[in-house]
Amino acid sequence: ATPILYQSISAFRSMRRELQPSIKIGFVPTMGALHDGHLSLVREARKHNDIVVASIFVNPTQFGPNEDFDKYPRRLEKDSELLAEYGVDHLFAPKIDDMYGKNHVTKVDPQGFDDTAEGRSRPGHFSGVATIVTKLFNIVKPTNAYFGQKDAAQCVLIKRVVEDLDMDLNVVVMDTIREDDGLAMSSRNAYLKPDERAGAPVIYRSLSAAKALFKEKKTIESAALINVVRKGLESEPLVSEIQYITVDSKATMQPLETVDEAGAIISIACKVGSVRLIDNAVL
Ligand code: PAJ
Repeated sequence: ATPILYQSISAFRSMRRELQPSIKIGFVPTMGALHDGHLSLVREARKHNDIVVASIFVNPTQFGPNEDFDKYPRRLEKDSELLAEYGVDHLFAPKIDDMYGKNHVTKVDPQGFDDTAEGRSRPGHFSGVATIVTKLFNIVKPTNAYFGQKDAAQCVLIKRVVEDLDMDLNVVVMDTIREDDGLAMSSRNAYLKPDERAGAPVIYRSLSAAKALFKEKKTIESAALINVVRKGLESEPLVSEIQYITVDSKATMQPLETVDEAGAIISIACKVGSVRLIDNAVL
């Protein structure tokens, strides 16, 4: 059956109020244009909960002024069919005016996240994410919420918000799902021209080279790992801009000088043609 669609907070709340307190609710927040990455989260939610809720909301407050908010793909009908195949019960897809009323002023401000590599590239982005996810959690009131490692800093951020604001739910992080050639699945891959799509797996190959080097050395300067990745990316002429290559703490997303057995996350943001792509590997 297709999931029941709620296009307003009040409609969702009328349903939510009737659920038993002991029922386990799995929640997968998304911006739609669903692919196997999103669907892997849904599959996991389906396995471990009584009810599965997905949300689709292209959140304006997490897009910068020169970003792709207007052209971000929107295909609710197709997405709803996909969610039906994966057994989603409820689909929350509110309108912008409902989520951000004209007098809206309150933001969740995750201190320090504008100073992470991704935050510096996208000032205000993480406050937008923290705010919308807090709102979604308050509406859905899930038992378990599912996020993808693809957005590594976002996962660290959500865990911080949940702990810092004493939200009563579990955050579950799932591995990045990739195409056969290693390219991390993303709604933005659809913007790639055929030659750019063919070149984009250089991102994964570069991360894999760094990962292999770390495995060999066990303790290594971050700079050495970053060099390997940079060389890899520079071997592909369609990589038009490297925004950052960074080696960060898994706990805080702050940069590390050296990586040892405690591990790290190595992250990339670069443009392939005019398309901004991000990816990371856990070391
Ligand atoms: P969106 O980009 O639609 O992603 C929704 C969820 O799917 C996120 O948790 C993201 O990390 C995960 N995801 C995306 N691509 C993935 C992949 N290849 N493998 C595994 N998981 C993947 O992230 C957002 O939306 C928004 O910031 C949101 C959290 C919904 C707040 O607006």
